[in-house]
Amino acid sequence: MKIGVLTGGGDCPGLNAAIRAVVRVAEAGGDEVIGFHHGWRGVVEGESHRLTTAETKGILQAGGTILRTARFHPNEHEGGVKAVFTTVAQNGVDALIVIGGDGTLQSAHRLAEAGVPLVGIPKTIDNDVAGTRRCIGFDTAVQTATEAIDRVQTTGESHDRLMIVEVMGRSTGWLALCSGIAAGADAICIPERPTNLSELTGAICRRHASGSSSSVVVVAEGTHLEDATLHVNGSVGSLVAKELESRSGFETRLTVLGHIQRGGPPVASDRLLATRFGVAAVEAVRAKDFGTMICVVEEAVETTPLAVLEGGPRSVPPELLSVVTRLTIS
Ligand code: F6P
Repeated sequence: MKIGVLTGGGDCPGLNAAIRAVVRVAEAGGDEVIGFHHGWRGVVEGESHRLTTAETKGILQAGGTILRTARFHPNEHEGGVKAVFTTVAQNGVDALIVIGGDGTLQSAHRLAEAGVPLVGIPKTIDNDVAGTRRCIGFDTAVQTATEAIDRVQTTGESHDRLMIVEVMGRSTGWLALCSGIAAGADAICIPERPTNLSELTGAICRRHASGSSSSVVVVAEGTHLEDATLHVNGSVGSLVAKELESRSGFETRLTVLGHIQRGGPPVASDRLLATRFGVAAVEAVRAKDFGTMICVVEEAVETTPLAVLEGGPRSVPPELLSVVTRLTIS
């Protein structure tokens, strides 16, 4: 069978690990893989090349995507959906593996409903794709942002400053919350919970009155402010920094982490997740489980009776064992 693979939307660390896994497992089972360039645009315009195990050697650790990416949705372009069907037919593609965030996968959903045989893989440093606990790239972004906030914290302490760190996250606060908690930030502003700057100023002033001389506030880029008279001109982080400085009187500095959060090599957990997702996607294609997305389930931290230990140690699951069998010589 011939499988087409594409990466769409914003890039993130771990995309190449997923591509590599797809190619290796497909080839090992006698299937052929072609890679479409620049996400859905490559499918619409018929731009692709054959992907082989030899070509994808050494990309596991590499950031970005060897297939390039674009924010492109076939249904937003005249004849785009028809062109997808044409490319799939002309290239003899039996199924597509679509690696993307919410936008790319929404397009995949529409196309699957229209009859394109495909399986999705969720990726985004925002970690906000519905239906999965984790997306490829998130763990790396959390690690990068956490390290950056740690650094901001020490310089803030030295200068007795209020430090504002703006992280990515237009619609959700996953990255802000997880990196902020991991770095011990003093306050975290996220899109899901509108920020009241008067309350935040009060909390910071109380903290400084009780002995602290510096604070770190992490602000997700999609944060909304409760005060409707304040308008974001530029980044929300700069508005928060300006307002907090004038209201509290504390010297304030802003750091916008930007695309540093999306670049560079994936951490081990993203390599592992991407590899597992890649293997599972090929399996789903072979099972003709189309119109689906690979996912990991369950997020909550809960309690469990200690009696669970009576069942003995928790072994690795069959799915993980099968990844090892397929991707190693053991
Ligand atoms: O969707 C991922 C993301 O990194 C968002 O967190 C961010 O708002 C956006 O992409 C930035 O997109 P671009 O690279 O197109 O400016």
